[in-house]
Amino acid sequence: MPNHNLVVIAAMARKGGSGKTTLSRALISAAVAAKRRVLLIDTDSTGVLGTWHRRADANGLGSPLLRSATAESVTAVDRTIEQVYEEDLADFVFIDTAGVGAEWSDSIAVLADHIVTPVMLSTSDLDVGAQTADWFEKLRSRVDDPDSLPRHHVVLNMVDPKTTRADAALIQAAVARFPLIETVMLRRNAYKEMDEKGLLHAIALQKQADPNPLMRPHVRHVVEAIEEATDILNNILEK
Ligand SMILES: Nc1ncnc2c1ncn2[C@@H]1O[C@H](COP(=O)(O)OP(=O)(O)OP(=O)(O)O)[C@@H](O)[C@H]1O
Ligand SMILES: [Mg+2]
Repeated sequence: MPNHNLVVIAAMARKGGSGKTTLSRALISAAVAAKRRVLLIDTDSTGVLGTWHRRADANGLGSPLLRSATAESVTAVDRTIEQVYEEDLADFVFIDTAGVGAEWSDSIAVLADHIVTPVMLSTSDLDVGAQTADWFEKLRSRVDDPDSLPRHHVVLNMVDPKTTRADAALIQAAVARFPLIETVMLRRNAYKEMDEKGLLHAIALQKQADPNPLMRPHVRHVVEAIEEATDILNNILEK
């Protein structure tokens, strides 16, 4: 039976290093923590996301709910999504894209239900974020049926836990400019740890079981990251 509830989410941004891979992994962690089946498709030719998945499994910090595939062309991505849909192989497909790959962008975009763009909180990053939002608006005007296009969401990333007055002004500007997700991604060591080790909830469980009681307070930081990612995922799905 086809999975009519399959949700395809693609992380896309015009700017490299804005947090696409981090956001993808955080959302994947949130989905798996909610016991959903996830397929991640890495279209980044460096294959970082797939490598991360193997590392997570090797560390015992993966999940049987998570599988990954690499796709070197739009056709391959399309075929993979089609198969997942037809055979009900997952609840979510996450597509991580490479920094630039602009020619791919339009073709990948139309395959997704949601596009998420992480934008770091700085004046120049907001400007580049605006280019991504403009690209999406232009795409609307170029397709026959704009209603069939995915929804576009912007997530502010690397927000300092202690918001300064300048940050607050930038956040205000972002609210006015972008289809912004209410929950922002804070700059967190837990995301760095996720990058090194694997899925957030698996890391939390491992810390909880640590025989060294000094490690246990760190569980809270990881749980907070899962909550943040879960909020972002729910926000995306609501719109
Ligand atoms: N919220 C965050 N907290 C802490 N570190 C972060 C956060 N977001 C991103 N980083 C770090 O910033 C760096 C760049 O992030 P990431 O690799 O996710 O960006 P990207 O958009 O996928 O980059 P590329 O365009 O090269 O694929 C990484 O080292 C990542 O660990
Ligand atoms: Mg990346």
